Amino acid sequence: MSRSLSGKVALVTGAARGIGRATALRLAADGAAVVVNYRANKAAATEVQRAIAAHGGEAAIIRADVTKLDEIDALFEAASSRFGRLDILVNNAGVGGRSAFSTTEEAAYDSLFAITKGVFFTLKAGLTHVEDGGRIVSISTGLTRGWASGAAAYAGSKAAIEQFSRALSKEAGPRQITVNAILPGVIETDMTAGMAEEVRSAARSQTSFSRLGQPRDIADVVAFLASDDARWITGQMIVVNGGSTP
Ligand SMILES: NC(=O)c1ccc[n+]([C@@H]2O[C@H](COP(=O)([O-])OP(=O)(O)OC[C@H]3O[C@@H](n4cnc5c(N)ncnc54)[C@H](OP(=O)(O)O)[C@@H]3O)[C@@H](O)[C@H]2O)c1
Repeated sequence: MSRSLSGKVALVTGAARGIGRATALRLAADGAAVVVNYRANKAAATEVQRAIAAHGGEAAIIRADVTKLDEIDALFEAASSRFGRLDILVNNAGVGGRSAFSTTEEAAYDSLFAITKGVFFTLKAGLTHVEDGGRIVSISTGLTRGWASGAAAYAGSKAAIEQFSRALSKEAGPRQITVNAILPGVIETDMTAGMAEEVRSAARSQTSFSRLGQPRDIADVVAFLASDDARWITGQMIVVNGGSTP
């Protein structure tokens, strides 16, 4: 594996588990020092930090709930005082929650859109802190491209993140910062662990490879977008779903 990100510093939100964990490990393998943000699961974040160190990499764990604006600011300040620079921001933290219109309560809606608000202000802070020539990647969902029932609030909360990314790509362009979003299909993580077997099986058969996605399938694309090879890609929504079609 190349060490193409040597000398760079990456911040991955929600990096203790799932896609964020795989992304932190991959960016570290490429040579970046990584800020592993977590909200609740310190033990899992510490395990990610240890795994990075075991492979000769450098990581710091920093707790912050990205739905709270003061904690977002504190996260960037702590990252900056630990590493002195920031080159790559990955907005990964998220919560699941699929329910039909008829059964979606206000609390469930608010918890999804609290993340959306958090992503907006993380992007705003990223614009201040990410170095010229840096990279910003947000994790949306392939559900924004479809009409799946039971996905209105979740997909709606992610669609806003895609629009933030498009607009920010223009505002960050003069500083040569690229801003993109990845739209994953179903990935095997804690978020999807509770899926009914029939839903899982349908998702598997909708891909071209008859399997569900793995966190590495997304992390590797984040690493590409973070690399110099992706310098001409910005404002893009990249579907990464194994060719899944309904
Ligand atoms: N899995 C899928 O099929 C799939 C598909 C499309 C998109 N996505 C998106 O991919 C991203 C990662 O999902 P995943 O499947 O890896 O989920 P996951 O395994 O449930 O992990 C979610 C991570 O987000 C963190 N998090 C949640 N709320 C947070 C907050 N307020 N502040 C800081 N961190 C917070 C969690 O931290 P703690 O561990 O500390 O609680 C955890 O590390 C999400 O944005 C999700 O919507 C997932």
